Amino acid sequence: MKVLGIETSCDETGVAVYDSEHGLLSHKLHSQVEIHADYGGVVPEIASRDHVGKWVTLTKSCVADAGLSLSDLDAVAYTAGPGLAGALFTGAVAGRALAWQLGIKALGVHHMEGHLLAPMLESPAPTFPFICLLVSGGHSQLVRVESIGHYELLGDTLDDAVGEAFDKTAKMLGLGYPGGPALSKAAANGDISKFTFPRPMAKSDDLNFSFSGLKTAAITAFDKTGRDQSAVNDIAAAFELAAVESLAIKCKKALQQHNMKTLVVSGGVAANVRLRALLQQTIESIEGELYFPRLEFCTDNGAMIAYAGAFRLLAGEHSGAEINVRPRWPLSEMAAPRQSG
Ligand code: KG4
Ligand code: ZN
Repeated sequence: MKVLGIETSCDETGVAVYDSEHGLLSHKLHSQVEIHADYGGVVPEIASRDHVGKWVTLTKSCVADAGLSLSDLDAVAYTAGPGLAGALFTGAVAGRALAWQLGIKALGVHHMEGHLLAPMLESPAPTFPFICLLVSGGHSQLVRVESIGHYELLGDTLDDAVGEAFDKTAKMLGLGYPGGPALSKAAANGDISKFTFPRPMAKSDDLNFSFSGLKTAAITAFDKTGRDQSAVNDIAAAFELAAVESLAIKCKKALQQHNMKTLVVSGGVAANVRLRALLQQTIESIEGELYFPRLEFCTDNGAMIAYAGAFRLLAGEHSGAEINVRPRWPLSEMAAPRQSG
C-alpha cells in the first residue's frame, strides 16, 4: 500500500510517500522558522496560510521523487491532532480533498503516535514491548508501548513540556526562536560548572516531570548576572544539563519499574545531542537498547504520519468523509488498529 502522509500541525509542512512493501520512498519538508522568527514564536494564522501555499508543490515533488504519479497512491494520511486548530485544518482539508479526487481512502492520524512510531522507520527498528520517552514542544511523557495502539501513560509533565521549557528559557535569555536548538547551541559554548540548577522530581518514585521551576531558576540566575553572552552560555549549559538529566533519571526508573530494557526516544527534543549522549550512557549502564529516529525525523515530518497512517489503513481503518481535527487529543485515547466505518 502506497500512502501519502501530510503533516501540518504546527510550523512545518511535511509530506512523504511510504510504501508498506518497500518502505519510505520520499519525503519533503518546508520549515516556517524564518517566517515566524521576527515574531519570536509561531503565529497560528500565518502558519495556516503558509501550509495552504506549500502543500501542493511539496506533494507534487514528493510523489515525483518516489517515481510515482498521484494515481499510484492507495491512500492519504494527514495529521488530525493534537496541534494548532487552523494548521491542522489545512492538512485535513488537503488530505481529504486529494483522497476524494483520487477516489482513495483517507485517515486522520494522531501526531504523537506518529512521533512514537518514527523510530520504526530506522534500521534496526525497535521491537515491542518498549518504554517510549515522548519529548516535544507540547509533550513530556513516558509511555509503555505493548504494540501499536496499546499505550499506557506512565508519566507526564505537571507543568511545562520540556520543549516548551527550552523555548521559554531561550526566549528570556534573548536566544530567539526556535528556542531548543538555539539554547543547545549556546550551551555548547558555556562552562557547565558555573551554575547548578535543580533536577525537579528526581527523588520522587513516580514517573512525572516538572520543568517550570528549572525555567524560573535559569531566569533568576540570569537576572543576577551582567547579562553578557558568556553568562547566557553558562546558564544555557546548566539548564540543558539539568533538563536532560531529569529526563534520563525518569527513563531509568521507568525501565527498572517495568523490568524492561528497551527505550525509544522521539519528538523534537530527541534531537538534543546532550540528551542522546546521556541516554546512551544510561542504557549502557543497564545493558539495554536505545532507539532514536534520525535527527530530521525527531522534529515534525511527513514520514512519521505516512508510516503511522499506513499501519492503521492496512488494518482497515479510515476516516469518514467529514473533516474533523482534534487540537487536544490524549494519546491514551488511541485504540489498537480496528475496522471503522
Ligand atoms: O516534535 P516537534 O518538532 O513539534 C511538536 O510536536 O511540538 O518539537 C518541537 C520542540 C520545540 O520545543 C523545540 O525547541 C524542541 O522540540 N527542540 C529541541 C531541539 N530541537 C528541537 N530542544 C532541545 N534541543 C534541540 N536540539
Ligand atoms: Zn511534533
